[in-house]
Amino acid sequence: MAAEIIEKKEFMVKPNLENYEQTYKNFKWDDVRGEIDWFEGGKLNVAYNAIDRHVKNYGDKIALFWIGADDSTKQYTFREISHLSNKFANVVRKLGVKKGDRIFIFLPRIPELYISFLGIVKTGAIAGTMFSAFGPSAIKDRLLDSGAKILITNSELKKRVYEVRNELPELEKIVVVDNAEKDEISYNDEMERASPEFDVERMSPDEYAFMLYTSGTTGKPKGVVHAHSAVIHEHITAKWVLDLHDDDIYWCTADPGWVTGISYNIIGPWSNRVSSVVYEGRFSPEKWYSILEKYNVTVWYTAPTAIRMLMSAGDELSKKYDLSSLRYMCSVGEPLNPEAIRWGMKVMGLPFHDNWWQTETGGILIANYPTMPIRLGSMGKPFPGITAGIVDEDGNPLPNGEEGNLAIIPGWPSMMKEIWKNPKKYGEYFKKEWYITGDRARRDNDGYFWFVGRADDVIKTAGERVGPFEVESILIEHPAIVEAGVIGKPDPLRGEIIKAFITLRKGFTPSPELEEDIKSFVKKKLAGHAYPREIEFRTNLPKTRSGKIMRRMLKAQELGLPIGDTSTLEDY
Ligand code: PRX
Repeated sequence: MAAEIIEKKEFMVKPNLENYEQTYKNFKWDDVRGEIDWFEGGKLNVAYNAIDRHVKNYGDKIALFWIGADDSTKQYTFREISHLSNKFANVVRKLGVKKGDRIFIFLPRIPELYISFLGIVKTGAIAGTMFSAFGPSAIKDRLLDSGAKILITNSELKKRVYEVRNELPELEKIVVVDNAEKDEISYNDEMERASPEFDVERMSPDEYAFMLYTSGTTGKPKGVVHAHSAVIHEHITAKWVLDLHDDDIYWCTADPGWVTGISYNIIGPWSNRVSSVVYEGRFSPEKWYSILEKYNVTVWYTAPTAIRMLMSAGDELSKKYDLSSLRYMCSVGEPLNPEAIRWGMKVMGLPFHDNWWQTETGGILIANYPTMPIRLGSMGKPFPGITAGIVDEDGNPLPNGEEGNLAIIPGWPSMMKEIWKNPKKYGEYFKKEWYITGDRARRDNDGYFWFVGRADDVIKTAGERVGPFEVESILIEHPAIVEAGVIGKPDPLRGEIIKAFITLRKGFTPSPELEEDIKSFVKKKLAGHAYPREIEFRTNLPKTRSGKIMRRMLKAQELGLPIGDTSTLEDY
């Protein structure tokens, strides 16, 4: 079937990338080196490029329009963010932080999160973020593995940290941004005393800037580490894919606990000197529309689940708001269904431009560009400088039209530099000359890439990446549970929901109360977003002869699909 195509020929604002095909053909990464400010000797700093370099000529420009969960508002100029992050850099220096030390941030989307992230990166330390829905077990895994020395949090979230505090020998200090108590460092007191001047650390392109934990199929989450060179990629993709211009008001709805919230809420847009909107609160259709209207948002970067939630809130609601300031919309994180693009056309008069990337890739690698016709349902074409392919299990390229593993030739500037303390895991990403993404996809004859699904058991629920192993590990800590197998079950709103198959200990019987108790157990211990919305009690689970639960079989049964090769299956 021929793809449905949307093509735009007239633009209110001239797109930064005027001709994708031609640029792709001639592009070399060196061509965009000049977009970034370098120090002598080929050194740079992500935070300097995001903020400080704009202060001299554009210091009074608003960098951040902030809206609190309680509807209070604040705004900060580039000069203010520069001074505040300098102050925080001085604070962390005073705490004895050295280049390469890990400092983690566990905060909701409040200004201190953005300021401390930049401040840490200015010192040459590695800034780590954790999503504010994480519970004690998720926090422990991340802080322990990274050996974080300092944690920045608030008085609400710190309670979850104290539940595991004794198991974190390397964590020296906790900085609290509101009410610090004894033994804690008061963010406000220290910031008041700190100088707004700071000589930013000059870093080699390969030296580390930030890290994030992300999940695979097996084992605990892995620390994906990014270097200062990432800013080159994040800058140029924000310019060419998100099409950011100087007078844009940009809203990226992602949380900096996830990579989109770092690469395209902090680094890329600010490096392009754009005014950004940040909303601390939770999703609500009324609130989101009112932000688009009130702040005259021009460029909007969001995710399919949010779009589907707006769709399900009904078109009547959208008509109450003036959304005419919007000129460009992008989407990422999970498959964008054609229906969502059609809805964008109907309600906003604009299509969503899908793009594809991962925590590990640090920045956008495949995208729909303003001037390129959109094939509804396709992720688009590789960014200039990126060679993408479809390969078989051995890393051999497959012809157009065939489904296989989506793979990329390594070497782009925002590619992860390391899986923290886990070279073996890092090595597993590569086959022959390719970086293997873990996604299945195909390429059509015109070079558009089409997402098929994950090659592994990673779950994407409401755009958030969840490892089944993490959820299973918490489930079996519940006193009623013997065994658990967790899968992603397709869901029309959230893309996937987490479904758990459980066997109970003797003496426990399935009941709605027990189900609720198990859900809240996972929410509290692991994360508010990573609990099983569906639970099925079973008397036994399919296992291999070596005792491994076969998630694939659970999934096939759930979806009514052929079960496939069962030769390794234990009798069950
Ligand atoms: O499976 C792909 C899916 O999200 C994964 C990466 O998730 P994460 O590391 O959390 O990064 C999110 C920031 C982009 C991918 O391996 N994914 C991402 N974008 C798309 C997508 N699936 C389909 N279409 C996309 N545009």
